[in-house]
Amino acid sequence: MTLLNIKGLAIDVDRDGQTRRLVHDASFEVDRGETLAIVGESGSGKSLSALATMGLLAEGLSVSGGEILFDGRDIVQMDAQEVNDLRGNEIAMVFQEPMTSLNPVRSIEAQLTEGMRLKMGLNRRAAMARALELLNEVGISDPEERLRQYPHQLSGGMRQRVMIAIALSCEPKLILADEPTTALDVTIQAQILALTAKLCRDHDVGLVLITHNLGIVARYAQNVAVMYGGRVVEKASARDLYSGAKHPYTRGLLDSVPRLDLPRDTPLSPIPGAPPDPTEEISGCRFHPRCAKATEVCVTDIPQMRPAERHEVACWHPNLTAKTKTGAVA
Ligand SMILES: Nc1ncnc2c1ncn2[C@@H]1O[C@H](COP(=O)(O)OP(=O)(O)O)[C@@H](O)[C@H]1O
Ligand SMILES: [Mg+2]
Repeated sequence: MTLLNIKGLAIDVDRDGQTRRLVHDASFEVDRGETLAIVGESGSGKSLSALATMGLLAEGLSVSGGEILFDGRDIVQMDAQEVNDLRGNEIAMVFQEPMTSLNPVRSIEAQLTEGMRLKMGLNRRAAMARALELLNEVGISDPEERLRQYPHQLSGGMRQRVMIAIALSCEPKLILADEPTTALDVTIQAQILALTAKLCRDHDVGLVLITHNLGIVARYAQNVAVMYGGRVVEKASARDLYSGAKHPYTRGLLDSVPRLDLPRDTPLSPIPGAPPDPTEEISGCRFHPRCAKATEVCVTDIPQMRPAERHEVACWHPNLTAKTKTGAVA
């Protein structure tokens, strides 16, 4: 059974008696030991999808359709207590800025051992021993000394490593990492992502890695889902996506990624225009105002996700290697 199987997820916001849809018909799957990257510009619905999975949607937001099957059980149907039990036990989350999720007045030891003591019932000695092991695993030197320190005494990269250790400490089945390295410099980002993906593989944990940077997840994810304007627009293995993206938006994202194999002054080609406000009414494909390939049908009809050459893509004019006469998806 797939560890996390999200099917047709819809998320609505209620404001001033009006209901607007923020996430439409989103589907994702991730298995144990596997990494799924969810990629898209800011505002595309990535965080909301993760928060819904943790049962942490803000007031006024709700899941209005679809299923979030975790180990076969639908999180949408669970009551608050059941979701609470999952969180921190079977599902852990790593956020962007560890300074806000680590408590500044508690030592690393207190924060790292808390879950193990409360949720796994380890005594202080056992929790300490495991904390040292975890700090070693996440590549923190001098772990005895680090346990006595406070968050402000660590660098940003070290804090993020501590967050990963905390996430792993209760032996979860799934970790949701929402832009876990965005605040760090690029070299450190790459190190931490590589480490997170490796540890999840070693511990047989499913990892959902959310990022706006498609370039940086290339080497760390098996599968990638690209979101735009609250919809999933393309899914494929990382290898297939990088070697032949089908959606013009994905191609645009790839073209705007700095490449190490090109001369430093090669200009990037960012996608013209800005992502839409999620509640803005746009007919047809939400990407059409920014798309060089858009035609009449893109303005009138919403493209659904369809299989195309080992990808799934929601586009009326996907980039196919073998085009049919009409240009429609084979
Ligand atoms: N609490 C909220 N109330 C109203 N709108 C929200 C709320 N949270 C998020 N949104 C809207 O939903 C869109 C998707 O949000 P989010 O999932 O956070 O995007 P991202 O892909 O950047 O993580 C955002 O553009 C935001 O305007
Ligand atoms: Mg976000």
